[in-house]
Amino acid sequence: MRHNLSEINAVICDRRSIKPENFSSRKVHREIIEALLENARWAPTHGMTQPWFFKIFMGNGLKKLAEFHSEKYKEVTPQEKFNPVKYEKLRSRPLLSSAVIAICMRRQETEKIPEIEEIAAVACAVQNMHLTATAYGLACYWNTGGITYSDEMKQFLGLGEKDRCMGFFFLGYPADAWPQGQRKPIEYYTEWVGE
Ligand SMILES: Cc1cc2nc3c(=O)[nH]c(=O)nc-3n(C[C@H](O)[C@H](O)[C@H](O)COP(=O)(O)O)c2cc1C
Repeated sequence: MRHNLSEINAVICDRRSIKPENFSSRKVHREIIEALLENARWAPTHGMTQPWFFKIFMGNGLKKLAEFHSEKYKEVTPQEKFNPVKYEKLRSRPLLSSAVIAICMRRQETEKIPEIEEIAAVACAVQNMHLTATAYGLACYWNTGGITYSDEMKQFLGLGEKDRCMGFFFLGYPADAWPQGQRKPIEYYTEWVGE
């Protein structure tokens, strides 16, 4: 055994999504966010493309994100599909957070590695961040609402045409007790062959 498995198991099982409505007013320091980003980059990456890119919104940046996302959502959504509750969440959630990290995938120039693998690598990087955040006792939430996948969002984030925005990672401290998780037992999603 090279590591303390009981600690690792505890962090993995304890990782929870906690929404900004349930964040306290305590601020997350930049040094802690940097520690999350340090661990993000140790995710597996086919061909060592390291396709992750994170844009971190803090302070005044949170206002810019909230304003852009909510107003653009309103602008591009047909009236019959417009949801005022969604609009309000896009407007308020960044302001309830210490930081919001835009989760992005930068497409390799040659496109040699299949896109699905680059997206998978970024998701692994997010999991590294989320587990690290759990160890710090931070509240985190990966959200893909609003116009996350739109060209307008790509432009706002300064991404290229073939890059992708994969969502937003909201960061704060929990206001309430740490929530309980639940999952189906492994029999539901495994099939063993050869034993
Ligand atoms: C790629 C991805 C996108 C997600 N987007 C949303 C979202 O838009 N809204 C939401 O309520 N939760 C979103 N989640 C979080 C899930 O709801 C959450 O992981 C799930 O409820 C399980 O809870 P847990 O993370 O506490 O175990 C997302 C999770 C992933 C992996």
